Amino acid sequence: MTPSDPDGAAARIARLRELLAHHSYRYHVLDDPEIGDAEYDALYRELQELESAYPDLVTPDSPTQRVGEAPVSDLVKVDHLQRMLSLANVRSAAELRAWIQRMRNFLAREGIEEPSFEFVAEPKIDGLAMSLVYEHGLLVRGVTRGDGQTGEDVTHNLRTIAQIPLRLRGAEPPALVEVRGEVYMSLPDFQALNERRAAAGESTFMNPRNSAAGTVRQLDPRLAAGRPLSFWAYQLGVVSGGLGFATHRAALEWLREAGFPVHPDIRVLASEDAVVAQCEQWQQRRGSLDFEIDGVVVKVNDLELQRRLGVVGREPRWAVAWKFPPTTAVTTLLDIGWNPGKFGDLHPYAMLEPVHVGGVTVKQATLHNEEDLARKDLRVGEPVIVLRAGDVIPQVVAPAPHVAERSARPQRPRPPEHCPVCGTRTVKPEGSVFTKCPNHACPGRRIQLLTHFVAAMDIEGLGERQVLAFMERGWVQGAADIYRLREREEELVEIPGYGETSVRKLLDAIEASKTRPFGRVLFAIGIEEVGDVTGRALARQLGDIDTLLNASPDELEQTPGVGPKMAAAIHAQLADPAMRALIAALREHGLQFAQERTLGREGTLAGRTIVLTGTLPGITREQATEMIVEAGGKVTGSVSKKTDYVVAGASAGTKLARAEALGVPVLDEAGLLGLLATGPDVKS
Ligand code: IVH
Repeated sequence: MTPSDPDGAAARIARLRELLAHHSYRYHVLDDPEIGDAEYDALYRELQELESAYPDLVTPDSPTQRVGEAPVSDLVKVDHLQRMLSLANVRSAAELRAWIQRMRNFLAREGIEEPSFEFVAEPKIDGLAMSLVYEHGLLVRGVTRGDGQTGEDVTHNLRTIAQIPLRLRGAEPPALVEVRGEVYMSLPDFQALNERRAAAGESTFMNPRNSAAGTVRQLDPRLAAGRPLSFWAYQLGVVSGGLGFATHRAALEWLREAGFPVHPDIRVLASEDAVVAQCEQWQQRRGSLDFEIDGVVVKVNDLELQRRLGVVGREPRWAVAWKFPPTTAVTTLLDIGWNPGKFGDLHPYAMLEPVHVGGVTVKQATLHNEEDLARKDLRVGEPVIVLRAGDVIPQVVAPAPHVAERSARPQRPRPPEHCPVCGTRTVKPEGSVFTKCPNHACPGRRIQLLTHFVAAMDIEGLGERQVLAFMERGWVQGAADIYRLREREEELVEIPGYGETSVRKLLDAIEASKTRPFGRVLFAIGIEEVGDVTGRALARQLGDIDTLLNASPDELEQTPGVGPKMAAAIHAQLADPAMRALIAALREHGLQFAQERTLGREGTLAGRTIVLTGTLPGITREQATEMIVEAGGKVTGSVSKKTDYVVAGASAGTKLARAEALGVPVLDEAGLLGLLATGPDVKS
C-alpha cells in the first residue's frame, strides 16, 4: 500500500489529512459522523505509517500532531493582539432595558437618532476564554484570557482539543484571524473524569470549570489529551487580509464554516421583549444542557453600531451578560465533620444529603471555621441552603427559610472534645476562637503540615495524595523524611501509578527543592504566623538560621511587618525542641538556611524593571524572578517605555518584538547573570 515514491506519498498524505479533518469535523463539531470509528482509525494509521516513512512530510496541522508536542517547562506570558474585554452584568428585565436605553442615549449624543437595534443572545459558557490566532489558516497560538491584556500561551494543550481546527476550512483564509471562544468541559466528560480519578485513588475536581482550567494550564500536553475538553466559538478578534462582515451573526456563520463549533441556538432578536424572553428561556434550559452556563450574553448585532458604541473601561457598551441567580438548593445537614489544619485548628465541614446543584452533586460543603458555623446557626438534622456559585467551593449559607423560627430545634453543634483523627483531648487556647488539637504528632495535622511544606517548596509531583500514601507506608513522618525518599527508589517504583520515569522525576524535584531560598524554607517549615512574605522578611533581616534561632523577641521585632505579639509567638515556636530537631535535620539534607544579606534597595538591580519572556536554557522563570527581586529589581508582565531590560529565551513572544520596537535592551540568560553580578553600569 505504501507508495515508494515521495511524490505519491505526499499526495496520499495530503488526501488523508483532508479526509481525517473532514471526518473529525463531522464527528466532533457537527455530531454527525459519516464513517465508523474503525474506518477512521484505519485512515489515521495509514497516515501515521506514511509520516513515519517520510518524516520530512510531517506538518504541524497534521491530525497526528495533536499530541505531538513536547511538554513545556513554563507557561509563557503573551500580550494579546487586542484587549480581551469583560462584560457588565444585568440581573433583571428592568436592568436589561436600562442598558438598551443607555445605548440609545449615547448614540443620540453621537447624532444617531432612533437606531434600529438587533440583538444576538448567546449562552454564557462557564469555562475559560481563549484567543486563538490563525495565520494563513494555520493555528499558530492559543492564549488564555489572563488579565485581558496578557495571557498564557497554552497552544500545546489547545491542539489536543478535537473541536479546535488546526487548519481553517475553506479556500481563502485571511492572513491573520483571531478567534475567541470558551474552552470548557462538558458535564458528562466531567463526571466520567472524576469517576476515573476516584477509581484510581486520585483527587476529584470540584467542578467542570476548575477541571478545564487545571487541564488547559498543564505543562504536558499528554495530560491535557487525556482529559476531554471542548470548545465553543463566540467572537472574532483581530482580522487582517480579508473578511468584512456587517453583523456579528455573519461573523458567527463564518466561524461555523471555518470549522468551529458555534452553538446552534444563537438567535437574532429584534425587540427588547424578545431578548428578555430569550434570556428567560436559557435560564429554564440551564439544567438540561450538557455544559454549564452562568448567564446569557446579549450583543448588538450590527458591527458598525458596535464600533460607534465603543468601550468604557474594560467593558464594551454594546454587550452585557444577563447573569442567572446563583445556584442554590435545599438539603439536609446530616452531620458536621472536623479536620485538623496544619497548626491543629479544627476546621468544620458539612456532610449533606447528596443534592444536585448547578450541574453537580454536592455531598460536602465548607463551613470555613468555628465562628462561621456559629454565626450561621446551623443544626444537624435540619434543612439548609447550599450555594454553589461559579467556580466557588460549595458552601452552606444558612438554615432553610423559617427553620430558625421553629420552637424545638436540635442542639447547636459543638466542636469535638477529642480530635477526630488522633483522639487527643482538644483545647481552646486563651484568647482564641478556635478549638485545637494540641498533639503535634497528630497524623491529621501532620498531613496538612507536610502538604503545606511540599507546596511551599514547590516539589512537583508531590501533593496531598502522595504525602498520604507515603505516610501510610510509614516512610514519611515529617518534612525531613521527604529527603530520605531517595533511599527507597526501588520501593517507590512498586507503588501503583508510579513508574521508573515518574519516580526519577519526583526524586529530581525533591533534589531541586534544596535550592529554594532561605525565606521560602522558613515559610515551608510551618511556623504559625509566618507566611511567605514574613518568611522572606525574616530571612532578609536575620540572614541565617543561627542568628534567627538566637534572636530575642526584640531583635525579631526589627523585621518589617513583625509586631510584638508575632515576635513572641515566633520566638516561642523556634525554641521548641521538635522545631529545632526539624531544622537540624533539614540543614543536614542541604536546604538553604542562609541568604546573602543584600537588602533590596542596595542590590545590583535596585530600582530596575525587567520583563521575562520565553524559556531560558538554564534557569526557570521563577528562579530568574527570585534572583532579580533579591537584587532589588522588579519583574513586570508587560513591556513599556519604563522597562529597563527584557530577558528573552527560546520561543519568546510578542514582548520581544515590543522591546525591539521600543528600543528596550534585550538580554539572554548569560546577559542576565552578568547583570545580576555586576549591575547595570557595566556593559554585559
Ligand atoms: S463575549 C466583549 N460571548 O464571559 C465580548 N463572552 O465577562 C466579551 N463568555 O471572559 C466576550 N460565553 O469567558 C462572550 N458567548 C459569549 C461568552 C462569553 C462566555 C465569557 C468569557 C469572558 C466573559 C466576559
